[in-house]
Amino acid sequence: MYGPWRSDRLIYRAIEDNDDDPLLIDITSDVDAIVNASTRLPLPPGKKRATAQREWLQTQLVGAVICLPDPEWTGDTGAKDLAKATPVGIIHLNAVSPDQAHHRYTEIGLRILKPHRGKGYGSEAIKWGLHFAFRYASLHRVDIAAFSWNTGAVRLYERLGFTLEGRKREAAFRDGKFWDLVELGMLEHEWESLYGKQANGRIEEDAPSPNGSISTPLPHFERDVD
Ligand SMILES: CC(C)(COP(=O)(O)OP(=O)(O)OC[C@H]1O[C@@H](n2cnc3c(N)ncnc32)[C@H](O)[C@@H]1OP(=O)(O)O)[C@@H](O)C(=O)NCCC(=O)NCCS
Repeated sequence: MYGPWRSDRLIYRAIEDNDDDPLLIDITSDVDAIVNASTRLPLPPGKKRATAQREWLQTQLVGAVICLPDPEWTGDTGAKDLAKATPVGIIHLNAVSPDQAHHRYTEIGLRILKPHRGKGYGSEAIKWGLHFAFRYASLHRVDIAAFSWNTGAVRLYERLGFTLEGRKREAAFRDGKFWDLVELGMLEHEWESLYGKQANGRIEEDAPSPNGSISTPLPHFERDVD
């Protein structure tokens, strides 16, 4: 079940203007989350880093906290549901400048906190990001990249259906040596053939009837259109 604010097991909330948000502090103190996901100098953690991370995320097309809902969760995303949910990581879809927007692409980046890695949340969040990109943001391609030391991430992205497109040789310096940047991508039609049928099933089920009313009310589908 994928929607703009949820996937099968996870919900997604905004990055709030709160630099004391433990998630921001935890993410910027998690060495793998910083070093594996950024070419920036890995400066020591603290509130200043949390502020920089928040400010950057808030300028992206999508910057979201990935959350595990409370076990008693009923499927809503109201203030109480968000407050009770446990943050497990962050995900963003890059903003491109207005003079690049006609190419309709973005790049996904994500970081899952150490205690929550290896449980499938990263895979689910990436699928959510793809769904958001192709079904809500009307994009045509989604890029994702990893440094060559991060072989697990590259394997994961290929397993999710991304195509290996290139290697930027010796693009990142870490621990005394240069590493490649491995670049992967997925096109809209590739996503459609891998994941679209499932998404289409939902949309067809929820499609408005010819007289304009919703034919089959389903509890999780967002019907409000501004
Ligand atoms: C890479 C990452 C996003 C994957 O999310 P996840 O929730 O751990 O991944 P899932 O549980 O959905 O899938 C597990 C797969 O991810 C791979 N993976 C990559 N880095 C991992 C890590 N640090 N810990 C656990 N799994 C990792 C595993 O190898 C596994 O694949 P395998 O079964 O073929 O070995 C997450 O581990 C993470 O945030 N790592 C640190 C930051 C990072 O590397 N970000 C990506 C930058 S490109």
